[in-house]
Amino acid sequence: MRIIMLGAPGAGKGTQAEKIAEKYGLPHISTGDIFRRNIKEGTALGKEAKSYMDEGKLVPDELTVRLLLDRTAADDCKKGYILDGFPRTIPQAEALDTELKKLGEIIDYAIDVEVPDENIIKRMSGRRACPKCGATYHTEFIPPKKENICDECGEALIIRDDDKPETVANRLKVYHEQTQPLIDYYDKKNILHTVDGTQDVQDVFKAVTSILE
Ligand code: AP5
Ligand code: MG
Ligand code: ZN
Repeated sequence: MRIIMLGAPGAGKGTQAEKIAEKYGLPHISTGDIFRRNIKEGTALGKEAKSYMDEGKLVPDELTVRLLLDRTAADDCKKGYILDGFPRTIPQAEALDTELKKLGEIIDYAIDVEVPDENIIKRMSGRRACPKCGATYHTEFIPPKKENICDECGEALIIRDDDKPETVANRLKVYHEQTQPLIDYYDKKNILHTVDGTQDVQDVFKAVTSILE
């Protein structure tokens, strides 16, 4: 099963993708997480990506596509995967389609997690992330059991560099200009499903699993 998660920054793509990955035993591939790991490790890729991410811009398609196709070629992706944050532009979606065609594979579901811009700002300002295992929390909506400590691995939680209000505003603008057209793109392929992302996490997940079952 191959799944694409669509939605604005902060819509809950990562939160849902993590739960799908656990339930269906599929790898969760977030291009944002891969870039952040590279930034942390100080790689050349990380340095290049950071300059775009800090301004809320997209990393260039060429670099992102190469990175993603490299990841989906790994052995653990043979039975499928969940893409979170990729594709984000029409050229990225086309590059993925070209590769899938070569392999005789298809995307089964594109799931759009819908959340209005007003809710997004609130979600981003309360987000806390675990730099070690990638788990995501929210100070108000999904607090960790112990303040600022990851439930899964005990690491101290951090605020993402691009969650500053100015950067969030720019990420939303970029989303509407470059990523939202993908909703139409997948609708035309008849694989688009929409869920109401303003519900609580469990209810969003129920809506997602009813699509996948
Ligand atoms: P990326 O890491 O993908 O960020 P994003 O798309 O902006 O999305 P987020 O991760 O911010 O949000 P999310 O939808 O995963 O929400 P989450 O589950 O965390 O990309 C970062 C940057 O990398 C980009 O700006 C770009 O520069 C670059 N990049 C990445 N991919 C790229 C690509 N393909 N091409 C080019 N550049 C690329 O939830 C948000 C918060 O809300 C959390 O605190 C969470 O706990 C909370 N929450 C979640 N669900 C709920 C709920 N139902 N109710 C209440 N709170 C909730
Ligand atoms: Mg995410
Ligand atoms: Zn952790």
